[in-house]
Amino acid sequence: MVGLVILMRYSRVNSPNSKPNSKQNSSNDDDLQSSLYISSTAVFTMELLKFFICTLVLFHSTNYSFPHLFQIFKNSLIDSPYEVLKLSVPSLLYALQNNLLYCALTNLDAASYQVIYQLKILTTALFSVTMLHKKLTVRKWFSLILLSFGVILAQTSTSQDSHVASIPTDLAKKNRLVGTLCVVMAACTSGFSGVYFEKILKGSPKVSLWIRNIQMGLPSVLLSLLSSLLKDYSPILRSGFFHGYTTTVWSVILVQAGGGLLVALVVKYADNVLKVFAASFSIVVNAVVSYVFFGFVPDGRFCVGTVAVCCSIVIYSGGGQKKRTILPLNRLEQGGKEEKENLIEDKDS
Ligand code: C5P
Repeated sequence: MVGLVILMRYSRVNSPNSKPNSKQNSSNDDDLQSSLYISSTAVFTMELLKFFICTLVLFHSTNYSFPHLFQIFKNSLIDSPYEVLKLSVPSLLYALQNNLLYCALTNLDAASYQVIYQLKILTTALFSVTMLHKKLTVRKWFSLILLSFGVILAQTSTSQDSHVASIPTDLAKKNRLVGTLCVVMAACTSGFSGVYFEKILKGSPKVSLWIRNIQMGLPSVLLSLLSSLLKDYSPILRSGFFHGYTTTVWSVILVQAGGGLLVALVVKYADNVLKVFAASFSIVVNAVVSYVFFGFVPDGRFCVGTVAVCCSIVIYSGGGQKKRTILPLNRLEQGGKEEKENLIEDKDS
C-alpha cells in the first residue's frame, strides 16, 4: 500500500517527460500536464487488466472450455442485467475513486495524501455500522480511533517525498486544496463501495467472487473508458492513448490491479474493517522489511505510531473477550432466536 502510493506519486512527478526544462525556464503547468501520461487511460488499462485476470480465473475453473466460459458470461452478464446494474454502483464509485487518487497524487505530496486517506478507516466503520448493521462497541470505536492516530504518526515519519522537489513549486502549491478534496472524497467512496460490495457478496453466498468481479468489472471497464474519452479526448487524440507509459507507469497499473483483486478476496474471507487493519499493519511490516534490508532506522514518532497500531489491533480483536457459550445445535435450531442473535453478534465482534 505504502509502496503503491510512492510509486504512483513517483509516476506523476518523476516521469522523464515531467521534469521541468531548466533551459527554457518552463514552469508552465499546461506543458507539464501535457507531457505526463494521461491518468484516466491508466485507470482504464488497470480495469481492463483486472477483467482479463478474472476471465482467466473463470476460464481455469471451466477446465479451459470456451463454450462453458461463454455460458458463464451469458448467465452472469446478459441474463442478469439487474445484478450488473447493482454492481454498477461500486463500479462507478471505484472508477471515480481511482481517478480522484491520481488527481490527489498530482497535487499533494505522498505524506499528506497518506495521512488524509486514513479517514477511510472511520468511513469504513461508519458504513459497516449503518449498512451492514455491524455492532461496534465503544471499545471497538476506541481501537479504530487509536488505529487512525497510530497510522498518521507512523506515516508522517516514514513518508519522505523527495520527488516533490522535482515539480515546479507553482504546481506543487497551487492545487493543494484540490488534492485534499480529492483524497477526502476518495476516503468516502472507499468506505461506501467496500461495504456495499461486501453486502452484495455476502448477501448471496452462492454466487462466486469471480462472477461478482466480472459483474462489477464490465461496468468499470466501460465507465473508465467513457470517462477517459470524455475527459481527455483531445490529449489522447494528440499524443496517443499510451502516451508517456514508462516502466513505472506499467508497474503502478500492475500493482493496482493485483491490489484490487486482493481487496476483493479480503472482503470475501474477512470484512472491510479487518481490511483497513491489515492495510495499516502493512506499514509496520514494510518498516521491518526496510529495517532488515535497507537499514531503515525508525524514529520516536514511528515507534509510538507502531505501538498504537499494535495496541489497536489487540483491543479490536478482543482483549478481555466475552466467554462464548457453545450451544447445542438443536437448541439453536429450536427457536433460541435470541441466543442465535447473540451468537452472531459474538461472531461479528
Ligand atoms: O483504497 P481501497 O481499499 O478502497 O481500494 C479498493 C481498490 O480495490 C479499488 O481500486 C477498487 O477498484 C479495487 N477493488 C476491486 N475489486 C473489488 C473491490 C475493490 O478491484 N471487488
